[in-house]
Amino acid sequence: MGIIFNEQEKQFHIFNKALSYVIGICQDGDIGQLYFGKPIHTEQKLQDYQSFGIRPLCCNEKDDEKYTKELALLEYPAFGDGDFGSSAYEVLQENGSRVTKFTYQFHRIYKGKAPIPGLPATYTNEDDEAESLEIVCRDLISGLEVTLCYTVWENYSAICRHTKLKNTGDKKLKIEQALSCNVDFPDTSFTWLQFEGAWGRERSPKERDISSGITAIESLRGHSSANYNPFVIIKRKNADDFQGEAFGFNLVYSGNYIAKAQADTFGKLRFNMGINPKWFQWPLEPGEEFHTPEVIITYTSNGLNDLSQNIHRLMNNNLVRSAYKNKPRPILLNNWEATEMDFDEEKILKIARKGKEAGVELFVLDDGWFGKRNDDFAGLGDWYVNTDKLPDGISGLSKKINDLGLKFGLWIEPEMVNEDSDMYRQHPDWVLAAPYRPRTLGRHQMVLDYSKPEVVDNIYNQLHEVISNASIDYIKWDMNRSITECYSQDVDKNQQGMVYHKYIMGVYSLYERLRKAFPHILFESCASGGARFDAGMLYYAPQAWCSDDTDGHERVKIQYGTSYGYPVSMVGSHVSASPNLQTHRTMTIDDRANVAYYGTFGYELDLNEISAEEFDRVKEQIKFMKEYRELFQYGNYYRLQSPFENNISAWMVVSDDKQTAIVTTHKTENIPNWGIERIKLQGLNPDIVYTINDKDDIYGDYLMNAGISLMNKERNWYESDGDYTTHMYILKGKVTK
Ligand code: DGJ
Repeated sequence: MGIIFNEQEKQFHIFNKALSYVIGICQDGDIGQLYFGKPIHTEQKLQDYQSFGIRPLCCNEKDDEKYTKELALLEYPAFGDGDFGSSAYEVLQENGSRVTKFTYQFHRIYKGKAPIPGLPATYTNEDDEAESLEIVCRDLISGLEVTLCYTVWENYSAICRHTKLKNTGDKKLKIEQALSCNVDFPDTSFTWLQFEGAWGRERSPKERDISSGITAIESLRGHSSANYNPFVIIKRKNADDFQGEAFGFNLVYSGNYIAKAQADTFGKLRFNMGINPKWFQWPLEPGEEFHTPEVIITYTSNGLNDLSQNIHRLMNNNLVRSAYKNKPRPILLNNWEATEMDFDEEKILKIARKGKEAGVELFVLDDGWFGKRNDDFAGLGDWYVNTDKLPDGISGLSKKINDLGLKFGLWIEPEMVNEDSDMYRQHPDWVLAAPYRPRTLGRHQMVLDYSKPEVVDNIYNQLHEVISNASIDYIKWDMNRSITECYSQDVDKNQQGMVYHKYIMGVYSLYERLRKAFPHILFESCASGGARFDAGMLYYAPQAWCSDDTDGHERVKIQYGTSYGYPVSMVGSHVSASPNLQTHRTMTIDDRANVAYYGTFGYELDLNEISAEEFDRVKEQIKFMKEYRELFQYGNYYRLQSPFENNISAWMVVSDDKQTAIVTTHKTENIPNWGIERIKLQGLNPDIVYTINDKDDIYGDYLMNAGISLMNKERNWYESDGDYTTHMYILKGKVTK
């Protein structure tokens, strides 16, 4: 791993054992993209890519007719200087011009990685895990300085990028667009893979052709959204989970964003990603600087499972910050689907007691414990306990839960306020709202103006009071509506373009302060389920509620799609009641658990209300999860057969030493008298014999090349299980040749 500057050829080679990323200083001082892919030698000059011969209708600088930006591959293109593609940045100057031209000034290469002020970002634990490069460029007329920042990792096929913009001149500037990264590819023979959906059906993979024109996704909801996740894969057309070349882009940001690919008519593909420029304006006074969020760019030449595992490892080791980093996550019991807001202390303790009997480790009290919160019309903003429901307060309840031998966790939704709340009555100017216009509500609530530090301070103080007076080990931080009328009341009109970004910076700052004050707390992020499931959140909260859809069958799809861009340890997954609250589908308690194991695992139902047989199964499940949770949460995860394309889907985890693996299959429809299904496994040691469910002994090479048979030899077909059923195969390595 390293970064080498070839002084003679003016080329930077950013490399590790899995990739090479080469950029160069072009003839006009711009920074050009020369190569990104499998490792290559770079002693030679690669800059021939930057000379195109004289071209009709292309524009060029007057002393070099053979160099036109329209054909060049660029690292951070501007608009207005001969590059007619999608620009990476735009800066308005006092004279009304948006034309800039930055040229290389100097660079810096150093071990480790610098933090990005106020923003979540990957970090090194030891300096020698990564090396970083900063290339400083300047527009000599306006004084705009653009620093392109890169980090390459020793252990991951990944490069992290972000950009810093600084006003080194003496006049005001206004940033109208500042994306995090731009990657120009020399051909367009790729497919775009995005992860889309809506509430209850988040992160379904969807392929789109990008052979010509613009392909894009974005969020303008103020959060990263359930609709389009801020993670995109650009892959070779034939690449699949098991082979082929692909590039992944995870934005480490939780607010409005855009990801865009532009295939031009010269056969070049431009990809860029960052804060959505819509309604974004950031004034830059002389001396001020602005940092974009980071993009984690991953590369594979070995298929999408390899790409995903790379992302999982990088996130677990170098993005998550928590006392629970790389640690098994507590098995929890959450009361939401059991009681919603209709509870009192005795009801809660009854549920918790049964949880303890089953073996759970953490009880989580969800929405409804504060203010006048008896339904979703009131209470948000008033973070003091409702003593009608909990006479001894959160401190009393948490102590009683602890006395049962359980840890205690609490739900909050700190970014919102109800009209019917003391907070709103006292501070009506603390919500985002456009002057003289009606407000759009979402779940009867308004969004607090987190661009104002006094609002964040108030919430911090309220929460600090609750947490420090009770015994709290876990917080579920919810966010249940999108931002509308994004206007900060009584704030100068020139600063309104800052509000979306300042809002999310306010959220990050509150997370940071709470994390510092209570480092032992395990945070779980949530936004009506998975509407803010992104790498930015992961930096503060190591796990996220994956979806409000807890139906086992739907969860197979949601968790499968999520696995492309996020680790299993992040996936909040619970067993809930059957028939399911969202889909009314019935599944056995074991089938539901078999799906929920691939996540943080817990229960979301009243265990007093299930049958004695089911309760016995729950006890067994918890015992099983305690034995295998490290493998589920941190093992090497493989997608084997997609639920989006097959009646039977399959996925598996394998331990690092390849001695243990767990394979799970799920059948949607039980088709009678079907043929013999086999699923080819991945990641095993070919030379080890594996015992499957303590019965059959089979070599790894057979299991990977011929597959595991799903036929149950002991049963006749008419005895087989019905629709929406799962099977789990536990493989244990036996003998090494
Ligand atoms: C939405 C969350 O996703 C649910 O799990 C639950 O916490 C509710 N909000 C509570 O209002």
